[in-house]
Amino acid sequence: MSQELEIKARAVPGGIPVLGHVLGFAVWPLKFLDEQRELADITAINLGPKQARIVNNPTLVRELLVSRTKDFIKAGPLYDISSAFVGNGLAISEGAFHRRQRRLMQPAFQRSRMPAYHSGMREAAEQMTARWRSGQAVDVHKDLFQLAVSVIGNMLYEGRFTDEMTDRIVWAVSTASKGIGWRSVVPAAWTHTLPTEEFRRFTRAQQALHGLGDHVVAEYRERDDTDPEHFLSMLLAARDENGDPLSDKELRDEVVTLFSAGSATVATSLAWALHLLSIHPDVEERLFTEVTEVLAGRPVTVADLPRLEYLGRVVTEVLRLYPPAWLLPRITPADTELGGHPIPKGTYVFFSPYSIHHDARLYPDPEHFDPDRWLPERSASRPREAYLPFGAGIHQCIGNNFALTEATIALATIVAKWRLRRPPRAKVGTRSAALLEPVGLTLVAKRRAGRTPAVAASAPAVESPGCPVTAARPAADA
Ligand code: HEM
Repeated sequence: MSQELEIKARAVPGGIPVLGHVLGFAVWPLKFLDEQRELADITAINLGPKQARIVNNPTLVRELLVSRTKDFIKAGPLYDISSAFVGNGLAISEGAFHRRQRRLMQPAFQRSRMPAYHSGMREAAEQMTARWRSGQAVDVHKDLFQLAVSVIGNMLYEGRFTDEMTDRIVWAVSTASKGIGWRSVVPAAWTHTLPTEEFRRFTRAQQALHGLGDHVVAEYRERDDTDPEHFLSMLLAARDENGDPLSDKELRDEVVTLFSAGSATVATSLAWALHLLSIHPDVEERLFTEVTEVLAGRPVTVADLPRLEYLGRVVTEVLRLYPPAWLLPRITPADTELGGHPIPKGTYVFFSPYSIHHDARLYPDPEHFDPDRWLPERSASRPREAYLPFGAGIHQCIGNNFALTEATIALATIVAKWRLRRPPRAKVGTRSAALLEPVGLTLVAKRRAGRTPAVAASAPAVESPGCPVTAARPAADA
C-alpha cells in the first residue's frame, strides 16, 4: 500500500445495464463527482463496457500525477482525437518525446520571461474595453476568448496577428473542442466521420489551425529582424540531446497546442472572475481600491503585480471555485494498484480539480467566494495537493505563469475603469464540457467616473499566494 492513510475504495451502486454510470456522469457530472467524493477515496464505475476509477483523495491524485506517471498515462480516445489537431504536441505527448519538447519549450515560459509578454497582454485588454460603451450589455466570454487568442497570437507573431486571424482561431478552437468532446465519449469510431455538416466544420477547423500554424512558422523563418529572445526564436534555436532541431511539423504542432491550451482556459477563468465580481460588489470595490492605489492612474506593468496582493488572491480563488480543467483523465497501460487497490490494465482513471476544490474538509464553506481564504495565516496548513487548477508533476501546465500574469493584467485593466453588473433576472449557468464554462453570461459594462475609491482597502499587506501548487505568482520584473 502506497501510503499510511487507510484508503477506502468502493464500487458505485446504480449503474444500469450496458451504459453503466454513463448517464449520471455525462448529464450531471458535477453532482456525480460530489457524490463520488463523499463515497470513498477511489470509486469504481463503468462507462459502457469500460471500467473507470475516480480518484477523490488529493494525496492519491498527487501520487498519480507526480510519483507514478508511468503507471497512469495520457492515452485513450480524448488524446487520439485531439492529435488530429495538435499532432504530438506537448499537451498530449508522453515519454521521451514529451520530455524533449518540454525541455525545449520551458525557457519561454519561465517567470523571468513574463515582462516580455506583458505589454501585449495589456494592449489586448485595452483594445477589448475600448470597444465597450457605458451601459452596453457585453458578451464577456466571447470578448475574453478573442483577448486570449490575440495575446497568444501576438506572443507568437509579434504584433502581426490580425483581428481576422483572431476570429479564425476563436472559431476553429471552439469548433475543435466541441467535436473532440463528443467524439471522445461516443466510442463508435464510424460515427466520427459521417459526412455531416458537423464533420465538415470539424475538418475546416483542423485546416484553419494547421494553415495558420504553418503560416506563422514559415513566415518567422524567413524574417531577418527576429529577436533571439522571442518565443519562436527560442524554439527554432532549441536542439535536443542529439543536436536536432524541431521539425516544421513539430513547430506547427506546438503553435496549435498553445492556441488550443492557452486561449479558452484563460478566457473562461476571466469570464468567471467577472461573473463573481459582478455578484460580489464588496470584493469588486476592494479590488478597485487596491488597483487605484497601486497604479495611480497608470497602465499596469509587470512590476506592479507583486503589489496587487488582493487581486492575486481573487485570481487564486476564482480558479479554486471554477477550475477550467475540471476533470482530467489518465489510463493504466498495465495492471497496477493505487492506495493498495487493484486497477486493471486499460482502466480510465479520472481526477477532478473541481471536486477537490469543493471539498469542505479542505475548504470550509466551499461554495463561498472568499479571496481572503488565501491569506497566509488561513492557507498555510492546507496541503498543496488541495489546489490543482494547473495540475501537477511532469504534465503541469507549462503556461501557468503566463496565465496568471495575463489574468492579473487583464483584470487590473478592466477593474480600473469599468464596473460590470449582471442584468436583473439574468441567470448564469455552468456547462461542464471540455472546460467548466459559464453559460448565459452577459454583463452590463459601466464606465467608472474618475473618482477615488469609496472603501478603504482593509486587507493587511501580505504576499499574494499566487498558485500554491507551483508557488507561481504573477511575475515581477526580472
Ligand atoms: C487559467 C488558465 C489555464 C489553466 C486553468 C490551465 C490548466 C492546465 C492543466 C490542468 C494542465 C495539465 C493537464 C493534465 O495534467 O492532463 C495544463 C497543461 C498544459 N497547459 Fe495549461 N492551463 C491554462 C493556461 C495555459 C496557457 C496560457 C498555456 C500556454 C500559453 C497553456 C499550455 C499548456 C500546455 C502546453 C500544457 C501541457 C503541458 C505538458 O503536458 O507538459 N496553458 N494546463
